[in-house]
Parts: sequence; C-alpha cells; structure tokens
Amino acid sequence: MMRYCPSESAMNPKPVTVPEFRSAKSQARRLAVVTAYDYTSAKIADQAGIDCILVGDSLGMVVQGLPNSLPVSLGEMIYHTRCVARAVKHALIVADLPFLSYQVSPAQAVRSAGKLLKAGAHAVKLEGGERMADAIAACHRADIPVMGHVGLTPQSIHRFGGFKVQRDEDLTLRDAKAVELAGAFSIVIEGVPSTLGAKVTNTVNVPTIGIGAGAECDGQVLVWHDLLGLYDEFRPKFVKRYAELGTAAKGAIGEYIREVKDGTFPGSEHGFQ
Ligand code: KIV
Repeated sequence: MMRYCPSESAMNPKPVTVPEFRSAKSQARRLAVVTAYDYTSAKIADQAGIDCILVGDSLGMVVQGLPNSLPVSLGEMIYHTRCVARAVKHALIVADLPFLSYQVSPAQAVRSAGKLLKAGAHAVKLEGGERMADAIAACHRADIPVMGHVGLTPQSIHRFGGFKVQRDEDLTLRDAKAVELAGAFSIVIEGVPSTLGAKVTNTVNVPTIGIGAGAECDGQVLVWHDLLGLYDEFRPKFVKRYAELGTAAKGAIGEYIREVKDGTFPGSEHGFQ
C-alpha cells in the first residue's frame, strides 16, 4: 500500500516564489510540477508539497473531453485559475495562456496574462520559442513572470501534423535560448529525445521542466489525470501512473450502486434521529 509521507514543505506551507523556483537550478534542487484545474485537486497537490501547480490548457482534454487544447478560452482558464488559487498555500501557481490569447501581439499577451494574474496565478506559461520572444519580453516588462514552453508545443499540432516528438536540435536549442533571453524564469520542454532535453538543460540558466524530455531536466511535470490513472483515452510513453484512481472510483461507485439497489445504504447510522 502506498503511504503518504508529508514532505517538509507540506508541514510548513511557505509559499514558493518565482525567484525561489528559478534559483532551484543553481542549488541543484529538482522541481516537481503537476497540473490541477479545481479546488480539491489543487489542495491535495499543495498539501502533498508540490513545488508548482500548472493550471494547464490540457484541461481541454482531461476536463472538457476535447481532442486537443485549441478550443480552450481565456475565460475558462481564468475560471480554473480562480478555483485553484483558492486552495493553494504553498505551491507556485502558473496558468497557461490558451491558443489565440497571446499570439496576435505582445500587447494582447500582456492583457491576457494580466487577467490570469488577477485571477490568482503567480506566473503564466506560453508556448513557442523565437517567434514568441517579443510576447515574453512584453510580459516580463509588465512584471508578469513567464514560463516558456518549447519542443512539442500542443497548440502547434496542426503545423506538426499531430502530437509528434520534435527532433530538430538546432531549432529547439535556439528557441530555448530565445525564451530565456526574453526573460522567462523557467522553460517547459515537451516531447523531445532525452539527449536533447539534457542539451537544452545544459544550455540555459533557468530551470527546465521536462515532460517526455528525459531525466536530465531540472524538474518534471505531469498531468494530474495521467499521474493518478484517471485518463485512458491516450497513454503517452512518458507517463508514469502513480495510482489507478479511475479503477478505484469505478469500484467504489459500483459498490454504491449495489448498496442502493439492495437497500444496504443508507444504514441507520446515516439517518437523523
Ligand atoms: O497544458 C498542460 O498541461 C501543459 C503541460 C503538459 C506541460 O502544458
């Protein structure tokens, strides 16, 4: 049986700040990041001692049942960021800028990112390398911390022709460097060979957070539903399922159905005298 062992941060919920997150690299402290989209999940992750909660636009798939994240709106991201922010006492909250909320111009990026900060995020994440450097720099100038995202950027699936591992080393390294120079405090690297994940990590001075990018990244991120075994539609190779909550939930609900039908539930202890 898996036992919950509270970490030091769970016992002492001191907030993780952007400068602390950034300094993890020079202090050789690995960073654990997980997505969450609602109050209860965020509270569980926070109390377990996670360093950073990402309110990811992956909610399009795992919460809304969409085939990809492209239809997710800024209004939906603001709503989920508010839900998460109400629960968190320790973790850094990073909220995703969804598709078309930042690509039009740097001014649009600042306006959209500012709304996520007003909803309770401490920082935003946006996808893209060199071509998004101006948007990142504009947010940085407006005191909005930005986490970059390079490699397999899910908002680019139509350009890539699907969720495909990105193998262009020069392009990925150039993108990561451009994101760092534009002022990002950290960079997600997704869906690249492990050797490339390591090269990017050794090239930039800010922490890299890998997802399908190998073990050499400064930290790792997983989607809540993947980590806990709640999502079966798509099982990427890089996912490790730390629990099978989907199976456990089906078992529990099945038992509830049986007990309602055979009259075992509610028992006298569940009634008012
Ligand atoms: O939207 C998301 O959850 C993400 C992570 C997978 C990095 O961007």
